[in-house]
Amino acid sequence: MPEPVSPLDQAGLERAAAEAIAAAATAASLDELATQRRYWTGDQSVIVQANRAIKSLPGADRAQAGKNLGAVKARIWAAFDARRETLDALASEQRLAGEAVDVTLPAVRRPPGARHPLELMQERIADVFTAMGWTIAEGPELEAEWFNFDALNFGPDHPARQMQDTFFTNPPDRGLVLRTHTSPVQARVLLASGVPCYVAVPGKTFRTDELDATHTPVFHQVEGLAVDRHLTMAHLRGTLDHLAQAMFGGEALTRLRPSFFPFTEPSAEMDLLCFACQGKNPSCRTCGGSGWIEWGGCGMVDPHVLIACGVDPVEYQGFAFGMGIERTLMFRNGVADMHDMVEGDARFSLNWGVEI
Ligand code: DAH
Repeated sequence: MPEPVSPLDQAGLERAAAEAIAAAATAASLDELATQRRYWTGDQSVIVQANRAIKSLPGADRAQAGKNLGAVKARIWAAFDARRETLDALASEQRLAGEAVDVTLPAVRRPPGARHPLELMQERIADVFTAMGWTIAEGPELEAEWFNFDALNFGPDHPARQMQDTFFTNPPDRGLVLRTHTSPVQARVLLASGVPCYVAVPGKTFRTDELDATHTPVFHQVEGLAVDRHLTMAHLRGTLDHLAQAMFGGEALTRLRPSFFPFTEPSAEMDLLCFACQGKNPSCRTCGGSGWIEWGGCGMVDPHVLIACGVDPVEYQGFAFGMGIERTLMFRNGVADMHDMVEGDARFSLNWGVEI
């Protein structure tokens, strides 16, 4: 405990004040300051005790003693308040410095993923048909042979069955194949929903092809089927021209070339004017100099298919088509090699942006 000082001992009070002010000014932390403050301004401190002693002074001295002490007290209290402010400011400065973010440091980048362009293309195609009021359907990838072939007018020994190199599954008498085209969904939709029918079916298909620059055993098609009264080949042509223009721009030129499919009569291939040479280069490598590239098959639905699906072919006609999605992407975006589409390298997909 400090020696008590009389309230009349001006020099003693000044010494105590000087010591207290020095202690406040040199306190290095808020904790130390609090300790010093208790010592110099607390109940047992020299100043407070001197203050208490005023009341036992002779009446004549009290006023002067009170005045002196008041002044000393004020200086000490002010010194502690000032130091507190300084230390507070210092502490918040240190906190801010600790929280500072160095914006010049290199960021940790997470590579963004991207949806596969084939998926995006299927959605884009589906949008074209939805906008025309068509519905979008799906079918199973592991398909009954009956839907994949029989319902589509491929006879049991029809050589056309060999047209499509099929992945059969074990045991063979289960009659399940990986669908070789999206056409079986035609029969599924007709049987499930009847006529009139306007449906587009994007999806995955399988054939026993080796992977090379232009073939892949797993690929995609978009099937289209319209069955209604009074449908003609002109409707087919108009629909496919609209799809071609939506995919490749207003100037896309198409042609129909006679062909054969068991499930359409007449049947045709839809060709696009070669995007590389516009039909002008006889030695063009993209179209082989023919000026045209094949986009898909199409035709008027064969009456046998309508009958197999319970639709009266006298009252109803239909047209159908099946376009390759990989081909669409190749023509539309200039993808030269099918490998890029199956290898799953994000650097390829990112070229289409990170669409959701
Ligand atoms: N399914 C045929 C194929 O994969 C393409 C096709 C041709 C689909 C004619 C059709 C069509 O709907 O009418 O080669």
